[in-house]
Amino acid sequence: MDRRGRASPAPRTVRVRVPAKINLQLAVGPLRPDGYHDLCTVFQAVSLYDEVRATSAVPGSGISITVSGEEYADVPAGPQNLAVRAAGLLADHFDVPPDVRLHVNKGIPVAGGMAGGSADAAAALVACDLLWGLSAARDELAALAAQLGSDVPFLLTGGTAIGTGRGERLSPVLVQGRFEWVVATSHVGLSTPSVYRRFDELAQDRQVPEPVADDAVMAALRSGDPAALGAALSNDLQAPALSLRPDLQLVLDTGRAAGALGAIVSGSGPTVAFLVADGAAAMELTLALAPTGLCRSLRHAQGPVPGAQVVPRAG
Ligand code: C5P
Repeated sequence: MDRRGRASPAPRTVRVRVPAKINLQLAVGPLRPDGYHDLCTVFQAVSLYDEVRATSAVPGSGISITVSGEEYADVPAGPQNLAVRAAGLLADHFDVPPDVRLHVNKGIPVAGGMAGGSADAAAALVACDLLWGLSAARDELAALAAQLGSDVPFLLTGGTAIGTGRGERLSPVLVQGRFEWVVATSHVGLSTPSVYRRFDELAQDRQVPEPVADDAVMAALRSGDPAALGAALSNDLQAPALSLRPDLQLVLDTGRAAGALGAIVSGSGPTVAFLVADGAAAMELTLALAPTGLCRSLRHAQGPVPGAQVVPRAG
């Protein structure tokens, strides 16, 4: 039965695919009393995916999780996993038994500044909503998503959007065409809170302005001009990330020398995102960076793509 008393032929396993994000602009404001920073960011969802599978479990068995895929050993497989917290929050909110087996297959870099953990939380909300027959309204899921993390609401919707507040208040952005990216992951991750702390340390002696959207980024997105977008990419967390990880400068410089239209640390890093003109340019950049050994992996991606989506059952 669903919560409106209708019999629901809920599938026993629901699969949801969810993308990674890149911040095309990340303007960070002053530290707030709650420990967060006001942001003005332009998110773009790109075609690197995690998949979350939610399978019904016997009553009383609770929420369990297993993880596979790239770098899966670095992902917590317990109650602190954001997908587990998402399933628990959803069950609490709708007062249904929190019984589900979750499986996360990682394709998004772990601790990379591409919101992989937040993506899994968004996917778990969508998967458990369908598995448990809740039919939650999109706004209801978005409100729960915001409780789980600043990036989680964006991974529900995907596309390209401006995020304000902590990043959780979204408005869609008009975009023409698709943009091609090369994503360079790092051998070691960076913790997001430590990068924000470094931002605060570096900002100690100056007045941090209120963050606002950059007109040049908006214009480049509207016209679909990758060269203009490449020139306009900006990230206030890049300087603190580089001060913690100076080796990333060489990755940025090598990619620029190999023809990238734009190069930027993704979110809090250490993943670096290169905007390129087309598939051939992506290949050229990949061939230039691969032999240096500076990156753990080099992946070609496109954006914008939709947010968390149920994968239709075969047949
Ligand atoms: O919201 P989320 O859990 O993803 O944030 C992780 C950490 O990043 C926060 O604990 C905080 O240290 C930092 N953060 C911030 N301001 C934001 C978003 C995140 O300071 N707007």
